[in-house]
Amino acid sequence: MRNIFLPVFMTVLLFVVPTKGSLYANEPDSAYLFAYGDTNGNGLYFAWSIDQGSWHTIGHRHTFLKSDYGRWGSQKRMYNPFLYRAPDGKWHCTWSLNHEDGAVAHTVSSNLVYWEPQSYPVLMPLGNCLDTEINYDPHKKGFHILWQSDKPTEGIYQTFTNDFSQFTPAEKSKRHPNNRREVTIGGVEVSGTVHRIAWEEIDRLISAQRLAAYKQLQNSERVAMNPGQFREPVTISLSPSAKEKKPISDMLIGIFYEDINYAADGGLYAELVQNRGFEYALSDKEGRDENWNSRFAWSVNNGSPLTIDTLSPIHANNRHYAVLEIEKQGVALINEGFNGIPVKKGEKYNLSLFARSTEKRRGPILVRLTGKNGELYGETTTGRIGAGWKKMEAVITATATTTDARIEVIPQQTGRVELDMISLFPQNTFKGRKNGMRADLAQALADLKPRFMRFPGGCVAHGDGIGNIYRWENTIGPLEARKPQRNLWGYHQSFGLGYHEYFQFCEDIGAEPVPVVAAGVPCQNSAHHGCVIGGQQGGIPMEEMDAYIQSVLNLIEYANGDAKSEWGRKRAEAGHPKPFNLKYIGIGNEDLISDIFVKRFTMIHDAIREKYPEITVIGTAGPFSEGSDYVEGWELATRLGLKLVDEHYYQPPGWYLNNQDFYDRYDRSKAKVYLGEYAAHVPNRHNNLETALCEALHLINVERNGDIVEMTSYAPLLAKEGYTQWNPDLIYFNNSEVKPTVGYYVQKLFGHHSGNEYLPSGISFSDNREDIKKRIATSFVMDKKTNELIIKIANLLPVPVSSFIDLSEMNITKEETAIMTVIKGNLDDRTVKPEEFTLSVQEDFNPELPAYSFSVIRIKTNNNSSN
Ligand code: AHR
Repeated sequence: MRNIFLPVFMTVLLFVVPTKGSLYANEPDSAYLFAYGDTNGNGLYFAWSIDQGSWHTIGHRHTFLKSDYGRWGSQKRMYNPFLYRAPDGKWHCTWSLNHEDGAVAHTVSSNLVYWEPQSYPVLMPLGNCLDTEINYDPHKKGFHILWQSDKPTEGIYQTFTNDFSQFTPAEKSKRHPNNRREVTIGGVEVSGTVHRIAWEEIDRLISAQRLAAYKQLQNSERVAMNPGQFREPVTISLSPSAKEKKPISDMLIGIFYEDINYAADGGLYAELVQNRGFEYALSDKEGRDENWNSRFAWSVNNGSPLTIDTLSPIHANNRHYAVLEIEKQGVALINEGFNGIPVKKGEKYNLSLFARSTEKRRGPILVRLTGKNGELYGETTTGRIGAGWKKMEAVITATATTTDARIEVIPQQTGRVELDMISLFPQNTFKGRKNGMRADLAQALADLKPRFMRFPGGCVAHGDGIGNIYRWENTIGPLEARKPQRNLWGYHQSFGLGYHEYFQFCEDIGAEPVPVVAAGVPCQNSAHHGCVIGGQQGGIPMEEMDAYIQSVLNLIEYANGDAKSEWGRKRAEAGHPKPFNLKYIGIGNEDLISDIFVKRFTMIHDAIREKYPEITVIGTAGPFSEGSDYVEGWELATRLGLKLVDEHYYQPPGWYLNNQDFYDRYDRSKAKVYLGEYAAHVPNRHNNLETALCEALHLINVERNGDIVEMTSYAPLLAKEGYTQWNPDLIYFNNSEVKPTVGYYVQKLFGHHSGNEYLPSGISFSDNREDIKKRIATSFVMDKKTNELIIKIANLLPVPVSSFIDLSEMNITKEETAIMTVIKGNLDDRTVKPEEFTLSVQEDFNPELPAYSFSVIRIKTNNNSSN
């Protein structure tokens, strides 16, 4: 089969390669542009016409602007877009958002292609802005915005502004939106605005649309090539140059930890009791599951009632507790864990709980681990319950191995007994830490050899609305005093795994901690909450920003301050008198770079720079590898002189194949890159050999640019089977098994075989076809600590590649035994693992690179590291 992409690409290129003037000889000076939306709210479309009679759409359903307001995906809608050109030539677009928020959207462009970040000023306290219009007032030198309420009695409003982020209060107006026109396009009548503009501008829109179509075509390319496309075997020759080496980051591979997919409670955090504090709330799931409340995962035998009280809790942050009214001794409060409690024969489990009873005759508590059919897997009895809240502790040794136990808490008395913070914790945690991490999962993370760990997210860090911003102070201190909260991914965060545990874990695995805090704004994808609008919600109010900034400074003091300082003391009290040696802090997470964001980010940044100039502040550049947040995020970073910028992008295989020079073009004088979230996504979103090879290809290209890319982390990291909100992830797990993906092994190979010096290499191919060349990527790095040369080769072709590697510059004086590790298989394999071989290597050698494979070869050299 011939390569179907080449002819299509060539045809598309004819349109996008700029020629002298245009491809056409006889074009008009100007024409009409029609700007319109559709009833689905997809975005802003354009059509052009010479005579306003027949209209030509620019691209089939190609949107030049999309709304970025509200929840991800289908909730981001643009209704009734209205386009207006101001006297300074700038284009303004306003549109309606939804039926609840009473906000309108606005953005500006100087060329109709690149649109500045959107803002969503609130026009109506309640109700919807059904239709908006915008007009310039030459006398007042500002804009009138007109909008129609969805309440028929309210009619048309207008407001005046010359600053779109600060709308004046609305006034009633007699004016009616009247600048819209009805135009028939493809037999359908649509409403929009007509503008007479220079033909050059229309031509630019046509080119922009064709470029977008070209990129889409590139992105849709898959790794698979038909073997029929190969008539000759492929051979490559490589010759790394020791003379032209350059230093590269030794921090390239890290991990991105977010509490998504049950990564914390029920995941990495080793607690076995679910909802131990009775703090699950309907609001965790936005009211969509009526069983998700304080009783979730709990039951009582004998038909006894389980009441939840809040009258006199252990701590105000932890308001709910369970109440048993025991008529006859034997009533058990039962917890099913996270869909079963896994225990191992002979292992010890720490039981702790708070109990209180004001009955005269108070007894101890029998705690049993049982099976569904009455099996007993271990038991213990605590001391006597007290009249006030008392923490009781004991140890249970499991007498059998099961994944499906439950815990029964049986007070040995009658009457009213109150219980809270019922916990069962394996003693066998990672490094034996109390309140620590599940050993096997944590080990899987440590095995990656990550140089750093970012936490606690992701979107979790900036939260779903201002009230849901992750507040680090709520996650430290005694467990019963931590303040749990709704997780934006639709469940609950107990915060048993909090900032102290994150710092401790980083230290335990030898990774630099990289906390990320909200930039004073919540996630731009925040939902509408009651009468609070969605999106960034105007950010933390200015009068609260000082306190917020202080909290960020406190975080740094908690990590690095002297044990006598206010926050350093809290760290010492938590068991870590020595500082954690924090070097980085991320401000913001792929935010919309609105005025609201810029203002708050700058305030936080300036305060950190002043008080802790040694800390590297990491900026943020949106959720994509292009677009306004990417551009404006980088501009802000350059303006503020940031050292590091966090980029995020999840791309299909075709993007990785066709953007291998992405970082080669980065300006070396500006901030360095932290690629904080990335992954290859195929339709159906699973992790397989195809996605893993694309990630290997990308990391090879990143390694070449290791002078500008400082750090990378695949995202997301962990996912509990059956509880995922996001796929693909790097490691799947259930209560008893850890299931690394193919992508995990790619990360692991890079983590174990990173270097700190990059050696450029010439490469020649037996066949110079582009589709072949872009499916082979190589890199040569030196690990100066061990004087070893590391060769990485990704072969994304369906056939083996023979290689000739000339190491004459590498000072290999005798035959060396190299270790070659290979991941290979079929592109849709999801379980392949690396295999290791040994090779004999001298000045040159000829390893064969299997079809669809990633290979790493490690060789001892005599290169003096100081050369
Ligand atoms: O990695 C999952 C999510 O992807 C992160 O929370 C967010 O930052 C991004 O959109």
